[in-house]
Amino acid sequence: MFVTFEGLDGSGKTTQAELLADALRAEGRDVVATREPGGTPLGEEVRRLLLEGMEMSRWAEAALFAAARAELVERVIAPALDAGKDVVSDRFVDSSLAYQGFARDLGIEEVYELNRVATRGLLPDVTFVLEVDPDTSAERVGQSPDRIEREGREFRQRILDGYRIVAGKYKERVVLLDGTRPPDELHEEIRGRLREHS
Ligand code: TYD
Repeated sequence: MFVTFEGLDGSGKTTQAELLADALRAEGRDVVATREPGGTPLGEEVRRLLLEGMEMSRWAEAALFAAARAELVERVIAPALDAGKDVVSDRFVDSSLAYQGFARDLGIEEVYELNRVATRGLLPDVTFVLEVDPDTSAERVGQSPDRIEREGREFRQRILDGYRIVAGKYKERVVLLDGTRPPDELHEEIRGRLREHS
């Protein structure tokens, strides 16, 4: 099973990804946990370029995220799934659809096309989008925003809108959840949804 977590920075997705990976392991399942951008040596280098590096054009940004993702799929995610393991990822292709496709206005379809080729069509079985409003996100991220987080409130709102459009487009796969609910409660809901799914 391939499960991904999505949302604005500060939405609690990292916490939920960790809680789920731990819970699955406690049941004796073999779990590979990963994050994007990153998760491989090349991916971590690309992450640094994307988040701390120079300004770049929008398609260059989308292509770098896709490059890091291609490496992660080829070396980590696909081999794990082929070996029958579960994969839990903190962000995946839907981040690019919401951030680059919608918020940066490149087009959700166009960015999906780039990623479809880069990932050889791999999509998660289930994706949880944790929704928090732009102000909660800003408060939780605090004083050290990365290059993308620095964009401001309007941009964060566009990301949220982008995620809603993506959720509408992939109804069978994407679940929207209220990220302001207590973490334990959210975790239980996520477990329940996954049981329904499998
Ligand atoms: P993330 O690792 O969630 O940041 P943090 O370590 O601060 O929690 O993601 C880094 C940033 O990259 C974040 O602002 C979202 C952005 N991003 C995209 O714009 N497109 C993508 O495809 C991905 C994976 C991330």
